[in-house]
Amino acid sequence: MATRIITVAAAKGGVGKTTLSYELAAALDGVLVDMDWDAGGATRMWGFDPTRAARAPLLDALERGPGGTPPRLKRRANQPSLVPSHPDLSASRIDADLVADCLQSWAEVWSEPYLVVDTHPGANPLTDGAMQAADLVVIPVVLGAREMDALEAILADFASYRLLLVPTMIPPIPPRRFVDRLAALADGRVAVAPPISEHRWLRRRLRRAALVRQPNPGVRVRAAAAEFEAVAASVKEACDG
Ligand SMILES: Nc1ncnc2c1ncn2[C@@H]1O[C@H](COP(=O)(O)OP(=O)(O)OP(=O)(O)O)[C@@H](O)[C@H]1O
Ligand SMILES: [Mg+2]
Repeated sequence: MATRIITVAAAKGGVGKTTLSYELAAALDGVLVDMDWDAGGATRMWGFDPTRAARAPLLDALERGPGGTPPRLKRRANQPSLVPSHPDLSASRIDADLVADCLQSWAEVWSEPYLVVDTHPGANPLTDGAMQAADLVVIPVVLGAREMDALEAILADFASYRLLLVPTMIPPIPPRRFVDRLAALADGRVAVAPPISEHRWLRRRLRRAALVRQPNPGVRVRAAAAEFEAVAASVKEACDG
C-alpha cells in the first residue's frame, strides 16, 4: 500500500498539534517528521535535543532534493520513528513545492504505512509544502471563541484539502455554543474525529514513550490512549474514504 502522508496543522499555536502528531505517528506505526523548529516540540518530547546537532538532517535532505537520500530515521522502542527538527529550519528559504516533492519521494523510499508531519503554527513554506503533499490534513480544534474564529478562517483557506477536524482539550461538559458552532462549520462536509478530552496531567508530564505505546499504562493513560487510538482509526478511514 502506498504511504499516506498526514499533515497536522492549525492556525493557532498551543492547540495540541505536537501531542496529536506524536500519538498518531505511534498509533499508525508511522514516521514522525518534525517540521516545527520551536523548543519543546516533538523532537524534545522524543528525547533528543535538536540544538545538539550542528546541522539539520531535514534541511540537508531537502537540499539534496527529491532524488536524493532521505534523512535518516531515529528509532526507539515505544516511540514513533523520528526525523528531528532543528532551529535552523526557522531561517530556511526552502520552496514549498520542493518540500512537497521531497516528502512524497521519501515516503516511497521509507515505505512505512504513514508519514505524520508536525508543523509550526501559521503559514510558512514547510507547512505549505507538507500540506500540498498530504493525503489528509488533520486540524486540532479547541472549543474557544478565538479558536473557532481561527478555524473558520482556515476552513476557507484550506478548502482544497481533504481535512479531518479533531476536537481536543475538551472539558467534561463541553460548552454547547461551541459544539453547535463546530457542527455548523463542519456542516457535514468536513470530517470530524471523536474528541480528545482535556487531560490536565498531560501538561506536567515528561514523556518519551507515546501514550498509545506505554508498556504499563495506568487508568488515566489508558483512557487518553484509547482516545488517540480512536482518532487514528478516523485518520485511516478519512484517508481511504
Ligand atoms: N488533550 C489535552 N489535554 C490537556 N492538555 C493537553 C492536551 N493535548 C495537549 N496538551 C498540552 O497542551 C500544551 C500544548 O500542546 P502541544 O504542544 O501539543 O500544542 P501545539 O499546538 O503543538 O503547540 P505549538 O503551537 O507551541 O507547537 C502542552 O503542554 C500539552 O501537553
Ligand atoms: Mg507544537
